[in-house]
Amino acid sequence: MVFKLSVGLLALATAVSAANYKRVACPDGIHTASNEACCVFLSLADELQTNKFDSQCGEDAHEALRLTFHDAIGFSFSGGPSMGGGADGSIMLFNDTELQDPANNGVDDAIDNLKPLLQQFNVTAGDLIQFAGAVAVSNCPGAPRLQFLAGRPNATIPAAKGLVPLPEENVDDIFARMEDAGFSPTELVSLLASHSVARSDTLIDNREAVPFDTTPFTFDTQVFLEVLLKGNETLPPAPGEAAAQVPNPLATEGEMRLQSDFAIAHAPQSACFWQSMVNNQQAVMQGFHDAMAKLAIVGHDASNLIDCSEAVPVAVPPVGKPASFPAGTGPDLLQLSCNSPFPTLSTDQGPPTTIPECPDGDTNLNDCPS
Ligand code: HEM
Repeated sequence: MVFKLSVGLLALATAVSAANYKRVACPDGIHTASNEACCVFLSLADELQTNKFDSQCGEDAHEALRLTFHDAIGFSFSGGPSMGGGADGSIMLFNDTELQDPANNGVDDAIDNLKPLLQQFNVTAGDLIQFAGAVAVSNCPGAPRLQFLAGRPNATIPAAKGLVPLPEENVDDIFARMEDAGFSPTELVSLLASHSVARSDTLIDNREAVPFDTTPFTFDTQVFLEVLLKGNETLPPAPGEAAAQVPNPLATEGEMRLQSDFAIAHAPQSACFWQSMVNNQQAVMQGFHDAMAKLAIVGHDASNLIDCSEAVPVAVPPVGKPASFPAGTGPDLLQLSCNSPFPTLSTDQGPPTTIPECPDGDTNLNDCPS
């Protein structure tokens, strides 16, 4: 018995040391990697965290995450290769063309922030976008550590106009668009966990950083709950893109609700799945991890790519607070389209919820909102 155990331990030790032995020293003299091709991403992660995101789940991180979708969704099974190559960096390489699409309003900030890195690091635009998104979301408490595969060739053509869904679109058209890129309605719901760390800069006149939930710096399940709360129909829609919004119960606290999120939360194909995400942090994390792994390689064959997930920082753990009804709301405001039992949640007490403007809750930092 003792003999068997020590043989086992010896085998394990040999395997571990073989794995360590196989690591290569990177040219930067700082990192080691399992594959030399990953070295550049370890250096790029340091640069992103230090000089682009400040290791925070702030505005720049949110915008980098959004960019992953707007690049990757430029792909169509039905239209063929001339419509776009998916996660190929075309939105960054052909930004003059792709930013003409109104659905890409606001993504110029992320492109301006990240594109200079192409001069500094020997990576393709498609790799840069997907990697930056994975590093960005690792700063958001509760996000999963995303997979990152490297080796996307650079785009040679821009994606066709009209492939990125708009918030005012009919839900069946949104589902059809997503299906044409390989995503089911429930996979879309999983991807929309990203709207848990999201604020709009373009939809409401004279206002930036309008959040989609009360905790825009935490990758939690609040967005799945708050989208299900009946809106205040007596308030006029905020001036701006009226068709993109639907009334929401926390408008006076500064929140907005996308028509698309609302419609997806109630559509027969996705309502029960949406509802099942409420207060289910593990399911949200797993679903987002898996759907993002798929999104990040749209248009590519994974077997041609190299797994450099080790270069993605370990994500900040969840804050551990269960989902709760924001103060001033409650279960009576729930508007449900799925018959499954709804979890019992507490209601925050006290004055109306104040939605923080900065990741650390410090509203005095002038540069936080945008
Ligand atoms: C039906 C699909 C989707 C629609 C219609 C949609 C629409 C929008 C809109 C209108 C905004 C606000 C932009 C602005 O005014 O600044 C936004 C923000 C955002 N979206 Fe989506 N989105 C969709 C799916 C996704 C997916 C799949 C992801 C990521 C994987 C994503 C990530 C984000 C993020 C992180 C933001 C916040 C950006 C920021 O705070 O600056 N979205 N989305």
